[in-house]
Amino acid sequence: MADNKEVLELKVDKDAEEVDDEEEEDQQDGSSEEKKMKKSKAKSSAATAKDGDDAEGAEGDGLTSQEQLLQILRSSRICEESRRSTERPHPFWDTQPVPSIGSDYSQDSGPIDEVKSSEEVRAEPYPLPGAFEWCTVDIDNDAEANEVYTLLSENYVEDDDSMFRFDYSVPFLRWALKPPGYLRNWHLGVRVTANKKLVGFITGIPANMQVYENLIRMVEINFLCVHKKLRSKRLAPVLIKEITRRVNRESVWQAVYTAGVVLPRPVSECRYWHRSLNPKKLIEVGFSHLGPRMTMARTIKLYKVPDQPQLPGMREMRPSDAQRVSELVSAYLKKFPLHPEFDAHEVAHWILPRDGVVFSYVRENGEGEVTDVCSFYSLPSTILGHEKHNLLKAAYSYWNVATTVPLSDLMYDALILAKKADFDVFNALNVMENESFLKELKFGIGDGFLQYYLYNWKCPKIEPSAIGLVLL
Ligand SMILES: CC(C)(COP(=O)(O)OP(=O)(O)OC[C@H]1O[C@@H](n2cnc3c(N)ncnc32)[C@H](O)[C@@H]1OP(=O)(O)O)[C@@H](O)C(=O)NCCC(=O)NCCS
Repeated sequence: MADNKEVLELKVDKDAEEVDDEEEEDQQDGSSEEKKMKKSKAKSSAATAKDGDDAEGAEGDGLTSQEQLLQILRSSRICEESRRSTERPHPFWDTQPVPSIGSDYSQDSGPIDEVKSSEEVRAEPYPLPGAFEWCTVDIDNDAEANEVYTLLSENYVEDDDSMFRFDYSVPFLRWALKPPGYLRNWHLGVRVTANKKLVGFITGIPANMQVYENLIRMVEINFLCVHKKLRSKRLAPVLIKEITRRVNRESVWQAVYTAGVVLPRPVSECRYWHRSLNPKKLIEVGFSHLGPRMTMARTIKLYKVPDQPQLPGMREMRPSDAQRVSELVSAYLKKFPLHPEFDAHEVAHWILPRDGVVFSYVRENGEGEVTDVCSFYSLPSTILGHEKHNLLKAAYSYWNVATTVPLSDLMYDALILAKKADFDVFNALNVMENESFLKELKFGIGDGFLQYYLYNWKCPKIEPSAIGLVLL
């Protein structure tokens, strides 16, 4: 029933024709179109970072002025209520095996749906309206990879004020979508039948996920995107159902995903923090603001970092480090109730440096033994409608393990290495042990939340410090 209902709601054939007609107009009118778009809570980087004044305050004991303002807004529940929209019905999500928004967190763990076998899963793709067709994207193919790049760079996640939009590069997408054991069939697209234009996308990659006591073969879902001209027409539920079907056909029944928006129902709610590396540019583009008693010169001084890493023995990770780094990362992640279980091939895939995509460093002690590792990935955002700057270069904290130095010392070197690599800002979630260094290293809290979700799995709520997972 629910399936038919969703398909019937897709009255989008006419709009499909219009996607192409309006393209030229879009290109001429790009910036004004951006101003009109108002998207729900952004996924990350585009959140407003705290200004220099606040960061200075964060070094002290008291709350900064921005934290105080947030507290007032929260206690008046203006922020909280509108963000959660608890009363809102969820005609799609209410049909899915996820806990409802208002329900209590389960004390025990297990699947929500009855356990099935893959033969019970429908063999045919879900129907799309006549104007559209499914496609499997070949991300190795340059033309197809560029189609995905264009769809995402023009239509993917923006901040609330439409000032920034994620700009995932083609090499990044290939890295993100082709880990060991990936299935091409899980790189799912929707095309306009008439002209084959790519207008929808969603992906899955396989991952072994530990959730409390259970090790579960899961899919990580990412890159859900519908072209701006086809929004609010219930295409997203069809994309989600079709990827679910393809995943279920492979006998995988659970998924993990993150979103800026609140849906039924987060297993964890995390926050983004931002460390200015190029404060002048961040202020010029409106990413952050000059503090009330701050000059630009003082702000630049506040965020200045040394030119070279401070810890002896820091160097770029090499392929020959993969086994040792795998041991370090795997052992460390076991601390966290939610974490991926990586084998050495997966660690090599996810952590070995890739030009312009992932940056990884190790610390080697006097005996040539690797004892610590830090890494970050590059996810720039397009700066929309700014005459001077068009790209915000953001580094995102990834896998970090400190065994011989304080984590904050290791992360200070990560900031230095990110600055050396010309990043404007270093972003980190309050996951794992990150709270231990955020304030000390002058990160400011952002306004971006990141909700973590599990599909078809109930379990107790997970605190951010118990999350050992960063999705790209
Ligand atoms: C996210 C996106 C695909 C949703 O498409 P849409 O046209 O806005 O929404 P549709 O009418 O197709 O579908 C609405 C349903 O999708 C759900 N939905 C919206 N965003 C979602 C998300 N990020 N993840 C899962 N479901 C989502 C809605 O809650 C709603 O279901 P409900 O009625 O049960 O609440 C689209 O807004 C988009 O491409 N946004 C920019 C990129 C983005 O934010 N991607 C998600 C990154 S996590």
